[in-house]
Amino acid sequence: MFPTTSYINRRNNLRKEMGTGLLLFPGNQECSFNYLANTYSFRQDSTFSYFFGLDHPDFAGVIDLESGKDYIFGNDVDMDDIIWMGPQPTVAEQAKKVGVTNTAPLANLEAFIKEALHKGRKVHFLPPYRAETMIQLEQWLGIHHSQLKKSVSMELTHAVIKLRSVKDALEIADVETMVDVAYKMHTTAMKMAYPGIKEQVIAGTIEGISLSYGGPVSFPVILSVNGQTLHNHNHDNILKEGQMLLVDAGAESALHYASDITRTCPVGGKFNQRQKEIYEIVLAANLNAFAATKPGVPYRDCHTIASETIAQGLKELGIMKGDVKEAVASGAHAMFLPHGLGHMLGMDVHDMEGLGQIYVGYNDEFRPSEQFGTAFLRFGRKLEPGFMVTNEPGIYFIPELIDQWKSEGKFTEFINYDKVESYKDFGGIRIEDDILVTEKGSRVLGTPIPKTVADVEAIMAK
Ligand code: GLY
Ligand code: MN
Repeated sequence: MFPTTSYINRRNNLRKEMGTGLLLFPGNQECSFNYLANTYSFRQDSTFSYFFGLDHPDFAGVIDLESGKDYIFGNDVDMDDIIWMGPQPTVAEQAKKVGVTNTAPLANLEAFIKEALHKGRKVHFLPPYRAETMIQLEQWLGIHHSQLKKSVSMELTHAVIKLRSVKDALEIADVETMVDVAYKMHTTAMKMAYPGIKEQVIAGTIEGISLSYGGPVSFPVILSVNGQTLHNHNHDNILKEGQMLLVDAGAESALHYASDITRTCPVGGKFNQRQKEIYEIVLAANLNAFAATKPGVPYRDCHTIASETIAQGLKELGIMKGDVKEAVASGAHAMFLPHGLGHMLGMDVHDMEGLGQIYVGYNDEFRPSEQFGTAFLRFGRKLEPGFMVTNEPGIYFIPELIDQWKSEGKFTEFINYDKVESYKDFGGIRIEDDILVTEKGSRVLGTPIPKTVADVEAIMAK
């Protein structure tokens, strides 16, 4: 856990952003897998964890803006629990670690909230994303679960996003440690990527590395020779010479901070000419976008730089044609890059996406694009020091998309369909780093993970 003062400061900072009322933070509950007692690994709610730190199911935190008191509602274990789980610290002992002195059984929370509502006080809560939490909120607030969305506090949502967007030194260090775990995961995958091995063996091995460092993977491992499918969780293929293996995977820390890294390597350890040509374009897009990543720059502009680098490179290979800026402005490049440059990173791999991606990545000044491809850019607003974002351009040859656009005669002035046909068996390449925006620029977090053609070939040869 972070020092007690971190949690006290975070709650005090939140107070400064808010007006009046109670701030209600339901922690997560255990979630059943295939029968009640067999649960998924417990994952605390990120915002509860940010303000109240405790990694324990069935807790709820409350900040009372008028009285200045903070509360944790939760139950002490009884003998039945001790028999199955061993002795546990009391709620009061746990709460002390995060600077909270007011504790009460969870069953008292309903009356506590109802009394506040009865007095006409506002009870602020964030968008719930688990059914169990919706049921709790329905009970505590007397709002039918289907109507909760309408009552979510936008004031609290914006305040939490403002605070969680800027990472402090301890948070940065935690993410950086997780990037170093990702280094081990990705270099292991590269060393295993030889003909004859099943994808599942590599996927299981790297997930095991994450677990062995104490946390789960930060999202289900994406690992496939069919990298053109952006989130490919199928690991059934046997690797063959001539294919590229795309691995998008990261680790989550005990404090729930995530890394999110993608590397793509040639099966067998040597890029062929065609692979190298496409890889170098993606790498240039990653590097050009990174060079532009600094405070005050809208991340949307970095996305445009990556897109134009890709269109220029594909033009040089005869795959695209025409004016590069016009091609990107029209959205023609999105056939090969049908997603955004990146997203915010932090306690969630798509940080705070549960609070509403539009509020995390956009504001009144920067609205999301409606154009296919760029519309999937999750973060478009101006960068600030302390923000963490991913930089993850890619080039994909998606046969179904190629066929559809070709049959519709889409962007024939910018896409050379005859040439594209010969790449339909290529797959996809993505390269992703985790970036910290600093006072004057930005830096790639963690130990550098092999990224150039030469470095990837060198590690694979080991
Ligand atoms: N790493 C998965 C994603 O960014 O969506
Ligand atoms: Mn990502």
